[in-house]
Amino acid sequence: MATQTGVAQRRLLANVSPNDGLAGSVIASPSRHDPDYYYHWVRDAALVMDTILTMYERSTDVAEKRHLIQHVLDFANFTRVNQTTQTIAGIGEVKFYVSGDGFLGPWGRPQNDGPALRASTLIRLGKILRAAGYETYFLNSIWPAIRTDLEYVSHEWKNPSFDLWEEIKGDHFYTRLVQRRALLDGAEIALAVGDSGFSVWLKTQAVLIEATLPAHISEPAHTIFENLHRVDGVWYKNSGLDAATVLGLLHTKSQPYLGWADKVVVNSVSALERRFAALYQINLNSPQLGTAIGRYPEDRYYGGNPWFLTTLAYAEYHYELAHEYAELGKLAEAKAELALGDRYVERVRRHVDQNGSMAEQMWRDNGYMMSAADLTWSYASWLTAAWARENAAQIIP
Ligand code: NOJ
Ligand code: NOJ
Repeated sequence: MATQTGVAQRRLLANVSPNDGLAGSVIASPSRHDPDYYYHWVRDAALVMDTILTMYERSTDVAEKRHLIQHVLDFANFTRVNQTTQTIAGIGEVKFYVSGDGFLGPWGRPQNDGPALRASTLIRLGKILRAAGYETYFLNSIWPAIRTDLEYVSHEWKNPSFDLWEEIKGDHFYTRLVQRRALLDGAEIALAVGDSGFSVWLKTQAVLIEATLPAHISEPAHTIFENLHRVDGVWYKNSGLDAATVLGLLHTKSQPYLGWADKVVVNSVSALERRFAALYQINLNSPQLGTAIGRYPEDRYYGGNPWFLTTLAYAEYHYELAHEYAELGKLAEAKAELALGDRYVERVRRHVDQNGSMAEQMWRDNGYMMSAADLTWSYASWLTAAWARENAAQIIP
């Protein structure tokens, strides 16, 4: 795992600030056709920059730390460009050319998880800057970008938007969770910088978002139903089961809504796992490995395949659960969860390239990698899973 973590960090950073783009832009993948992912996606970039902040916090090398934080400062500047560039969906715009120009072709827009994720990442940067005494720099250069995203999220969250898979317009558990997190993060930092009226407004909206979440619980199965109130987009998603639900919990760890061991979470995670275990040939061929996990069972994109980032999200989920059990002194349960997480990592190991390179997907019939090569988000998801494992293993004797 340590070797792969080094590979993931290098390959992730290789997709940041490309030579033909502005500093702080992140390509979703170097792939320029079939599929063309040579864009700065707001969602992917925010998640990638969040892992760069963790790399920064974990590093003890002064020069490396400076290099890493510079990427996030560049990202803050690029965000300002994105927010002020002419686009179709404004702050809810989905993706930009690395030059900073907006993508003006047809697309599922707006996607309202993006500005929420971006705000939370920039707030993390803001906390680092303020703690280091750069208050004025923060207020002048970073806070305006954060405030713009928070204004948008706090006024728009009620309206339908396209989900993180860019396919269905409606209300989404994932989107609402990251919006709630952004508003809670925002309420804290607004208070800290003396913007107390704004802080109260953000907190109020976060509480209102939270009140809409129980509607996503589907009975009698007692599982989370990801997409509600569809107004546009694909119509063939009917199970409601979606790895987006797990991703939402993982992307809001700092402002948790449900515990890892909550019945509705455990049910949702396992119901979806059972669907994929039966659905993909590679799972039937090698059941001793962890189940390769896709986006959702009815997926048709590239034929509907398992993805690295969702399979790694399952590893990370079990590592988080291991950590929670260990903290409660339930060591047998903790060890079992750690071993479960490791099985998903073994699955990923089976399908990555010899050199550790990870695409977006693995073909459901034979496990060969497919779709976008070197997907930046795949590497970010490797890193967050590996760090969660380390965190859990540390407290399990
Ligand atoms: C491209 C999107 O990126 C992907 O998520 C989606 O599944 C396909 N379009 C099909 O709508
Ligand atoms: C398609 C995925 O569905 C979406 O979540 C992602 O943002 C884009 N690809 C870019 O990686």
